[in-house]
Amino acid sequence: VTPVQTTLDVALGERSYPVVITPDLPGPMVAEHIATLSAGRRARVLVVTDSNVGPLYGADVVAAIEAVGCDTRLVTLPAGEAHKTVVTWSSVVDAALDHGIRRKDVIVALGGGVVGDIAGFAAASVNRGVAFVQVPTTLLAQVDSSVGGKTGVNHTTGKNLIGAFWQPRAVIASQRVLETLPARERRCGLAEAIKHGFIADPAMLRSAVDAAADLMALEPAVTSKLVADCVRIKAAVVEADEREAGQRAVLNFGHTFGHAFERELGYGALTHGEAVALGMVMAADLSVAFGVSDDPSLGLFVTEVLDALGLPANPYAPNRPSLDRLIAAARADKKAVDADRVNFILLRDAGSPLIQVHPWAHIREALEPRFESRRPQ
Ligand SMILES: NC(=O)c1ccc[n+]([C@@H]2O[C@H](COP(=O)([O-])OP(=O)(O)OC[C@H]3O[C@@H](n4cnc5c(N)ncnc54)[C@H](O)[C@@H]3O)[C@@H](O)[C@H]2O)c1
Ligand SMILES: [Zn+2]
Repeated sequence: VTPVQTTLDVALGERSYPVVITPDLPGPMVAEHIATLSAGRRARVLVVTDSNVGPLYGADVVAAIEAVGCDTRLVTLPAGEAHKTVVTWSSVVDAALDHGIRRKDVIVALGGGVVGDIAGFAAASVNRGVAFVQVPTTLLAQVDSSVGGKTGVNHTTGKNLIGAFWQPRAVIASQRVLETLPARERRCGLAEAIKHGFIADPAMLRSAVDAAADLMALEPAVTSKLVADCVRIKAAVVEADEREAGQRAVLNFGHTFGHAFERELGYGALTHGEAVALGMVMAADLSVAFGVSDDPSLGLFVTEVLDALGLPANPYAPNRPSLDRLIAAARADKKAVDADRVNFILLRDAGSPLIQVHPWAHIREALEPRFESRRPQ
């Protein structure tokens, strides 16, 4: 099957924008959108990328934007989550102001979620906000972070503690750029993709299992369908609750214990997606233990989907952190309601999430048997 170009809309009134999923390299499509945004002016454009993505795709994107008459500069950040800091953000702001970026100019993020979050936050703050275009180059960024308008950087006391809501004016998701994505980053994106299935679309999960081999190879037709499904789901959630007054939190399914695994094992031991995979199993098991789901095999279903996609699926394995350590790490997270309770994303069933406040003591009680049974008899 030849993948075709698809355009979806994120409907947020005057902040609405298109998400274009294209089989081709992103340059021409990015240039076309910038030409529309700048409406005949010779706009200034700052393209922000990282040290892995820049050498691969930077020149193509810059040349395409130059070709529609914009004064374009490329800034290359050191790659990796460790650089998602105010220091890096500040270097982007310096580059933007040095390039003369004003209100009607454009900042482009060419990279994964790290580049998108930093460049988006710079776009939100330079001149109190300039137009922003997302060109996500990881599967994770295409299915999740490039849509929805959350931008920001980490602080030493926690992830994403500094930031702003700033919607892009367009998102260009090129399937071609995914060809160079390392295997581990692919799996990481697949984990966040199926997270969308668990909160909104069980049919997507069944197709993902059936097409697991094609997905792991990022076969373009199958992958672009997955990206489109995820963008549709995320757009609907964001349209209903742009600023996370409530229901948008369902996007954090699997993340309470996911973040705990990341903290406890040290960032990098598991990718974010792998950690979220383990967190999704625990959230499903909790849903059954709390009687929110009456399907006793819900946890097993989550495990099967993860297994099919080559993701870790056993949070209770003897080599994993203890329940005490996981709870201590989760309590340190910013999502807590108060010292004793947490907003937990549970499932009534695949596709039907429920946000409930639970005391940590109850969570511990409900999960204890799982951790007990992992001890050798
Ligand atoms: N804003 C949101 O709503 C939101 C949602 C989810 C996650 N996030 C954030 O996203 C970040 C994770 O994003 P990520 O997983 O994309 O990480 P990333 O941006 O660090 O990219 C992962 C790695 O892949 C490399 N890379 C990117 N594209 C490539 C390509 N096409 N070919 C080869 N290499 C490529 C990068 O240089 C990097 O080394 C986290 O900081 C997380 O907090 C934000
Ligand atoms: Zn995540």
